[in-house]
Amino acid sequence: MRAITVRDRDAGVSGLSLTDMPYPHAAENDVIVRVHAAGFTPGELDWPGTWTDRAGRDRTPTIPGHELSGVVVELGYGTTGLTVGQRVFGLTDWARNGSLAEYTAVEARNLAPLAADIDHTVAAALPISGLTAWQGLFDHAHLTTGQTVLIHGAAGGVGSIAVQLAREVGARVIGTGRADDRDVALSLGAQTFLDLDADDLQQVGEVDVVFDVIGRDILERSTELVRPGGTLVTIAAPPTVQPRDGRAIFFVVEPDRARLADLAQRLRTRRLNPIVGAVRPLSETASAFARRRRTSGKTIIQVADEQGTQHS
Ligand SMILES: NC(=O)c1ccc[n+]([C@@H]2O[C@H](COP(=O)([O-])OP(=O)(O)OC[C@H]3O[C@@H](n4cnc5c(N)ncnc54)[C@H](OP(=O)(O)O)[C@@H]3O)[C@@H](O)[C@H]2O)c1
Repeated sequence: MRAITVRDRDAGVSGLSLTDMPYPHAAENDVIVRVHAAGFTPGELDWPGTWTDRAGRDRTPTIPGHELSGVVVELGYGTTGLTVGQRVFGLTDWARNGSLAEYTAVEARNLAPLAADIDHTVAAALPISGLTAWQGLFDHAHLTTGQTVLIHGAAGGVGSIAVQLAREVGARVIGTGRADDRDVALSLGAQTFLDLDADDLQQVGEVDVVFDVIGRDILERSTELVRPGGTLVTIAAPPTVQPRDGRAIFFVVEPDRARLADLAQRLRTRRLNPIVGAVRPLSETASAFARRRRTSGKTIIQVADEQGTQHS
């Protein structure tokens, strides 16, 4: 099968190449998915799991990409809950071959069924950003109605979903980002927007929750905005500073079939709109990863169309 692979950790994005790889093996509780659309995270070539297995052993050549939408074509031994021919979407494991391929092996519990009226290219934009936004806001920060949340990177992949989810629960949302992000953040439901290059963050006042996707100085400057008893959640890196009288939490997103199903239902009813930017064929993955120019929305790699025709 055709897949995007990496072999050389020092090569960066130029090491991504379109290669022939063996068809994957369905281990116990796995399914094989024929990938229709795949999502990737620009920084994933720096993640240890891209290069080694859970025991730290070299596993190159590896296939990157951890978000997918496609169709189940095979069940591993003992796998229940999904059937051959079913449309699914979800996350692949960080330390196994991923979704930038015609086929991939995934634990069934990482996937949720996908209704026929949701496009694969839209569904593939949701697993990481949707689960991360939900887990950060509600599982870790326990955001509730009437509270105020400051969401950094509010027009980005995770932030744009977080803004929509926080508004829906009845929170007051302050979004941040670059000047160009203002209209998108406000249209998604942020009541206020701050340009991090021009506006003073301190003008925000106290907030119940900070949701940070940027880290470093933005994170540090945000800790003093957290109200006593409030929470700062960051997904960028473990925080080196704490709010004076609050919690600081770093976490890595976890698969959650029930939550994915809930997010898919929100997509169907248009309560949630992931921003899909460019859609590119598998052969253009390297240039999609390398893209420097700012584009709005997540870049999706279309591997096959709805009829199963390959896109190269
Ligand atoms: N821990 C986890 O489980 C987890 C899960 C998902 C993602 N992540 C990480 O979280 C980060 C965000 O992911 P994402 O998918 O949301 O990325 P993204 O789509 O690039 O969104 C980040 C947004 O923040 C903006 N931004 C970054 N630095 C800024 C600054 N200094 N001033 C103003 N705006 C700034 C970006 O603008 P520009 O594009 O102009 O920089 C972009 O709009 C990534 O590092 C990703 O690897 C972690």
